[in-house]
Amino acid sequence: MMFRNKLFLFILFVTCFEDLLLAIDVQRRNLATENPGFLSIDCGVEDDYLDHATGIWFKSDKEFTSTGENHEILPEFQSDDDEYEKQFGKRYNTLRSFPEGRKNCYSLQLEAESAKNSSFRIRASFSYGNYDRKNQPPKFDLYVGVNYWTTVDSNAYGAFFRENRSSARYKDDIYDRIWYPYRLPNSVSVSTSSDIDGSNLYKVPAEVLRTAVRPSNGSSMTGSLSVASDYEYNVYFHFAELEVFEDKLREISITVNGGITQGPFTLEYLKPLSISFQKLLVVGNFTFTIASTNESGLPPILNALEIYQLKQIEHSATNQSDVDAIVSTKHTYNIDRDDWQGDPCLPKDTTWTGLSCRFDTTPRIISLNLSSSKLTGEISPSLALLQEIESIDLSYNELTGSVPEVLARLPKLKLLNLSGNKLKGPIPQSLQDKSDNGSLLLRYGRVRFSLLNSLGSFYTA
Ligand SMILES: *[C@@H]1O[C@H](CO)[C@@H](O)[C@H](O)[C@H]1NC(C)=O
Ligand SMILES: *[C@@H]1O[C@H](CO)[C@@H](O)[C@H](O)[C@H]1NC(C)=O
Ligand SMILES: *[C@@H]1O[C@H](CO)[C@@H](O)[C@H](O)[C@H]1NC(C)=O
Ligand SMILES: *[C@@H]1O[C@H](CO)[C@@H](O)[C@H](O)[C@H]1NC(C)=O
Ligand SMILES: *[C@@H]1O[C@H](CO)[C@@H](O)[C@H](O)[C@H]1NC(C)=O
Ligand SMILES: *[C@@H]1O[C@H](CO)[C@@H](O)[C@H](O)[C@H]1NC(C)=O
Ligand SMILES: *[C@@H]1O[C@H](CO)[C@@H](O)[C@H](O)[C@H]1NC(C)=O
Ligand SMILES: *[C@@H]1O[C@H](CO)[C@@H](O)[C@H](O)[C@H]1NC(C)=O
Ligand SMILES: *[C@@H]1O[C@H](CO)[C@@H](O)[C@H](O)[C@H]1NC(C)=O
Repeated sequence: MMFRNKLFLFILFVTCFEDLLLAIDVQRRNLATENPGFLSIDCGVEDDYLDHATGIWFKSDKEFTSTGENHEILPEFQSDDDEYEKQFGKRYNTLRSFPEGRKNCYSLQLEAESAKNSSFRIRASFSYGNYDRKNQPPKFDLYVGVNYWTTVDSNAYGAFFRENRSSARYKDDIYDRIWYPYRLPNSVSVSTSSDIDGSNLYKVPAEVLRTAVRPSNGSSMTGSLSVASDYEYNVYFHFAELEVFEDKLREISITVNGGITQGPFTLEYLKPLSISFQKLLVVGNFTFTIASTNESGLPPILNALEIYQLKQIEHSATNQSDVDAIVSTKHTYNIDRDDWQGDPCLPKDTTWTGLSCRFDTTPRIISLNLSSSKLTGEISPSLALLQEIESIDLSYNELTGSVPEVLARLPKLKLLNLSGNKLKGPIPQSLQDKSDNGSLLLRYGRVRFSLLNSLGSFYTA
């Protein structure tokens, strides 16, 4: 990749949204896709396509979500020149909007069991582009799984949209991180055209490491980044010596936030070195000073910087066996409710209709009400996997077959309403016993017109 601008230092902000369009890039390791290691989704397009400028294969979002509607942004916001096209491709021209429902989800399956415990980097970008001609950029909350990530105020990102940058990303960066050039005050650039070993732990692209800054005078340089205050950050400083010296070594140390220091360490020619600060609490701006030691014959340099804001993961998802049971029930009965997506219980104000949950450390489903929901077929045996359930109301559907005995094994079941169905056969003895001694409130009555040709015993509510 060639850069027309003179590059100084690359910097990566992970917590910032770059622009304003509804497009989500989800990077996943351990996933065999057209771009190994990550997945890029273009929201609102019909078909998958290869973005020639970046070599990135964009998938349509069709297979990841079942709600929302596709739109195009207005022509005046669309790609209109080659430079723009090179930077952003066409992925910001389309979007998916979600006029219905309080919660709308994209669901990405992890194929490999081993992937379930790996780290994922997710980047989401949004642009409103006045697609609805209302000039009302939306504001909404973004969750990853059941945890709040951020509030997207598409208005606030407007200025970013047209910004002209040069940047490095895929294929230079195998994870498609986007590295932006950044200028430190009182610094000058250093660069090399020699090869740098790109196979470092953090996979910083050689292209990014090939340029650096050093102080224009003196033996230290200071940078300041305005980041959200009172959060913890993981910060990674990336170095590689770019110049050859016969008898001098570059020996440097890093001080962050005017206090915590690491080093001194010595740089080796064309060999990447990364120094990280973990869980660094930042109050006010994040500041850093790179200084050479008294013994160092050379001023310090800095090649690249990565900074990640840490967020507390407050909630764990609903118990997996409850999720499996309710999802299986949903499929058995083809339940087509817009809000039956994502986690069944969380976020709290978007619990699936007809469910209620107990919000323990791991939320549990405690009641299910699918009364008058046009259910057909037999009573789903997966209901018996809802181990904490206290109340099941399946009344006034068209359920057939017999009442499964397994329901008697639900230890906490106190209410079971099966009235108004077309069920046959006797109530299993174990359920009857629970009903007789008062530990279970059982409703099991038939619709009147079916009484005539029914066989077996029946109970009326
Ligand atoms: C998940 O990863 C963490 C950190 O890498 C490790 O400590 C833990 O044992 C892993 N858990 C499983 C179930 O593999
Ligand atoms: C955008 O960047 C390119 C390449 O760096 C440059 O040639 C062009 O003049 C810039 N355009 C504007 C509007 O700044
Ligand atoms: C170093 O450069 C800065 C800005 O270019 C200047 O303010 C400062 O006085 C210089 N220091 C020395 C020791 O020359
Ligand atoms: C924080 O940094 C920004 C530029 O990055 C600067 O404009 C601002 O004055 C700084 N604030 C403080 C408190 O240092
Ligand atoms: C480096 O030199 C300065 C000034 O000469 C001195 O004040 C400082 O103590 C020295 N630092 C070390 C670690 O020797
Ligand atoms: C989920 O529920 C099952 C069945 O009740 C239980 O065995 C398991 O321990 C629960 N898992 C968690 C993480 O609570
Ligand atoms: C289930 O919902 C219906 C309304 O749809 C309501 O009449 C009924 O009382 C509910 N069942 C229970 C057990 O709360
Ligand atoms: C089912 O029976 C329970 C217990 O009597 C009752 O609370 C609930 O309202 C009934 N459901 C409907 C839809 O009437
Ligand atoms: C009611 O009967 C069931 C099934 O025989 C039994 O498990 C349960 O302990 C009994 N409960 C009470 C309150 O007697």
